[in-house]
Amino acid sequence: MTDGQRRAPLYEQLVRHRERAPASFHVPGHKSGRGLDPAASGLFRDIMSIDLTEIPGLDDLHQPEEAILEAQRLAARCFGAEETMFLIGGSTVGNLAMILSVCSRGDVLLVQRDAHKSVIHALMLAGAKAVFLMPRIGPRGVACGLAVEDIAEALKTYPEAKGLLMTNPSYYGIGVDLKPIADLLHQHGKVLLVDEAHGAHFGLHRELPASAMASGADAAVQSTHKMLTSMTMTAMLHVQGPRMPRSALKRLLAMLQSSSPSYPLLASLDVARRQMALQGEALLGQALSAAGLLRKRIGSLSRLRCLHAAEAESPFPADCTYDPLKILIYDRAGTGDGYRLKAELEQAGCFPELADPAHVLLVLGPGSREADIERLAAALRGIDGRLPSGSASACNPSGPAEAPLRLLPDMAAMSAPVAFDLSLASQAPERWVSVAECEGYTAAQMIVPYPPGIPLLYPGETITRPVAELLARLADSGCRFHGHDVAKERTVPVSGRAPV
Ligand SMILES: Cc1ncc(COP(=O)(O)O)c(C=O)c1O
Repeated sequence: MTDGQRRAPLYEQLVRHRERAPASFHVPGHKSGRGLDPAASGLFRDIMSIDLTEIPGLDDLHQPEEAILEAQRLAARCFGAEETMFLIGGSTVGNLAMILSVCSRGDVLLVQRDAHKSVIHALMLAGAKAVFLMPRIGPRGVACGLAVEDIAEALKTYPEAKGLLMTNPSYYGIGVDLKPIADLLHQHGKVLLVDEAHGAHFGLHRELPASAMASGADAAVQSTHKMLTSMTMTAMLHVQGPRMPRSALKRLLAMLQSSSPSYPLLASLDVARRQMALQGEALLGQALSAAGLLRKRIGSLSRLRCLHAAEAESPFPADCTYDPLKILIYDRAGTGDGYRLKAELEQAGCFPELADPAHVLLVLGPGSREADIERLAAALRGIDGRLPSGSASACNPSGPAEAPLRLLPDMAAMSAPVAFDLSLASQAPERWVSVAECEGYTAAQMIVPYPPGIPLLYPGETITRPVAELLARLADSGCRFHGHDVAKERTVPVSGRAPV
């Protein structure tokens, strides 16, 4: 760590400006918080005092030359990048810019199928074609990343592809070793783009997987707000090497992000980077201890279990990586469904990250406290004792006899190129058909169980029987959807002719 990492240049500059007690004749209209509604000022006052704009000394995100440039350079050094761009639209905007900078109309991109919806949106904006690669499915139906052999096959089949977009790690914290994949792509002269939204902490502690940058990716987007300590909506885009068109990236970010980026958000990135550079190892060590304690507490329950490398009933492929700060719990007898378990935890004042039909995902981080772990453990003990009895055969160490409901059905290992277009975002469905009858139709809109925000269907995709069955089961299970609410409407928006 260099001494520069002790500084938070943007944050410090904002504090210095505040200390001058300046008279504001510029936007924002609240004038450093003085015009705030008094009813809310108690909570907002401090943060509003640094909610400023591009006045001298405060630099400009879209043309950084001073404090923001310095803050971004420190972040690049801390996170192992050659260049880092601060984002105020989350990894969402990072994915958009990353893909748009590499793909033009008609270009082919290899895309891991369990990608976030922002990846599909980027393909639509670019007018690009995706060749979807299906991740492997590990224990309990959890997706566990792409196999390097499948990527090699795709590169052979589609030598014109611009590169590969991976989601690594997944929302559930499962990823793969990216080094051989980066090497493979580079041998073919292609780029490796990584949606590392869930891995901003990677590489900052010896027990955590290596980051995409350390593994040789050309670009990686990290939601600093998800696993580190910056404010919601903040993220970073890291790049290295000669393959990314960096000027285009910056122009795209200027196009996609607000021309009035929030200084509190930007400063929170600066402060989070400083904190990680100075204390990352210790703070993440505490979070890892808290996760270990939680796993131990769950280990003493009779029905609820957690999925982790050491406890997985059948091993994940050897090249998989695991984030120990993600804890996925489930009922080993297979009766307790994820949504009900989540609701019961919420009633006890413990709020998980997400549920799926069979699991609840808990996320720990630098802010996790032992007292919270014990509170959660007590709630889980209560729930464990109240679970309806499951079948005896299901209670064996290898888990329930019936595989849990997955959020990603079986699909071809590699799709044909799928052409995306912006018109797909605005097209009106020709009709809505009932979930029970949707097989064989063409989806007219994205169908997105949320969270995790991975489209189960994209517009133009033919609805296969496994997908139709999964939709029906998800609609019955309490799953939430973004966009068209399949659970509430019991329909799917479709276009084209009825299947024969
Ligand atoms: C894999 C993945 N990528 C990107 C995003 C978008 O991140 P953000 O919320 O920072 O925009 C998410 C959000 O959950 C995600 O799960």
